[in-house]
Amino acid sequence: MNSPVPARVRIQDQAPVRPAGVTETTVEAQPLAAPELVFDSRGVSIFYGAKQALADVTLGIRHGQITALIGPSGCGKTTFLRSLNRMNDPVPGFRIEGQILYHGHDIYGSGVDRVEVRRRIGMVFQKPNPFPKSIYDNVAWAPRNLGLRRGLDERVEKALRGAALWDEVKDRLKDSALGLSGGQQQRLCIARAIAIEPDVLLLDEPASALDPIATGAIEDLMHSLKGRFTIVIVTHNMQQAARVADRTAFFSLETAGAKPVGTLIEVDETAKIFGEPRDPRTRDYVSGRFG
Ligand SMILES: Nc1ncnc2c1ncn2[C@@H]1O[C@H](COP(=O)(O)OP(=O)(O)OP(=O)(O)O)[C@@H](O)[C@H]1O
Ligand SMILES: [Mg+2]
Repeated sequence: MNSPVPARVRIQDQAPVRPAGVTETTVEAQPLAAPELVFDSRGVSIFYGAKQALADVTLGIRHGQITALIGPSGCGKTTFLRSLNRMNDPVPGFRIEGQILYHGHDIYGSGVDRVEVRRRIGMVFQKPNPFPKSIYDNVAWAPRNLGLRRGLDERVEKALRGAALWDEVKDRLKDSALGLSGGQQQRLCIARAIAIEPDVLLLDEPASALDPIATGAIEDLMHSLKGRFTIVIVTHNMQQAARVADRTAFFSLETAGAKPVGTLIEVDETAKIFGEPRDPRTRDYVSGRFG
C-alpha cells in the first residue's frame, strides 16, 4: 500500500485541560507542592453494554511511583488498568464516562492516536505472552515496528538488562522465547515493553503465575524500574502490594441499586492503607476479614 502515513495528532499537541477559571499564569504561579500526576482519572465510570463495571473513579497516579490496585475479584481493577491505555476500546459494548487525563491531556479526546498512546503506556499481562519468535526478536519487535532500527542490538541488550534477564539469556538470544521458564518469560515481556522506553508500565497481576523466587525477581525489577517509569500494578497479593507500592488504591464491589458495581473506596500511601485505613471496608479487606 502506498498511501501516505496519516498525520498523527500527538497527545502533547492538544491543549492541556485546566479547571475552569484557571489560567496558565495561575497554574505556573502555584508552588510546586502538588505531586506531578501522570494520570488523573476524574469521575470515571465504565460500562460493558448494559453492565456497569466501575462507578465514578477519581484517582491520581503519581509520576515515578508504583501504585498498586487491590480489591476482590470482579471489582474492576483490570478494567481500570486497561482503560489507562485504551486497551478496552475494541471490547464490544465498552463505554467510558468521565475523563482520564494523561499529563493533562484527555486520553479519550478526539484526535488522540491510539498507537502513540500504546507507545507511551506499555502493558504486561497476567500470563506471560511471548511471541513464538526468538528472544532477540521479541524484544526487537516494537522498536522495529516503530522504525527504530539503528542501534537495535544495544537497545535489545539495554532492555534485557533493565528487565534483569540479560545474564540468563545473552548466550541464547536466537533461541525461541517459548523455551524460557515462566518467570523468565514474564521478565522477557517486561523487556519487550520497556524496549521502546515508554513513560508508564501497566502490570496486571504480573507475578500471579510465578513461584516465590520468580516473584521476588519481578518485585526487585519493579523497584529498579521505579523512577525511570511510572508503574501501575494490579495484584491480589497484599504482601506484594505492601512490599512494592508507594501508594495503594483499594477497590470494592458496592451495591448501588440492584447490581454490585466496582468502586474506589480509598487511595493513600501504602503504609496507611495497610496500617490505618480510613474506611472500615478497606480494614476488613486488608486484614483478611473480607467476605
Ligand atoms: N470484556 C468484557 N466484557 C463484558 N464484561 C466484562 C469484560 N471484562 C470485564 N467485564 C466485567 O467487568 C467487571 C470487572 O471485571 P475486571 O476484570 O475488571 O475485574 P478485576 O477486578 O480485574 O477481577 P479479577 O481480580 O478477577 O481479575 C466484571 O463483572 C466482569 O465480568
Ligand atoms: Mg483482573
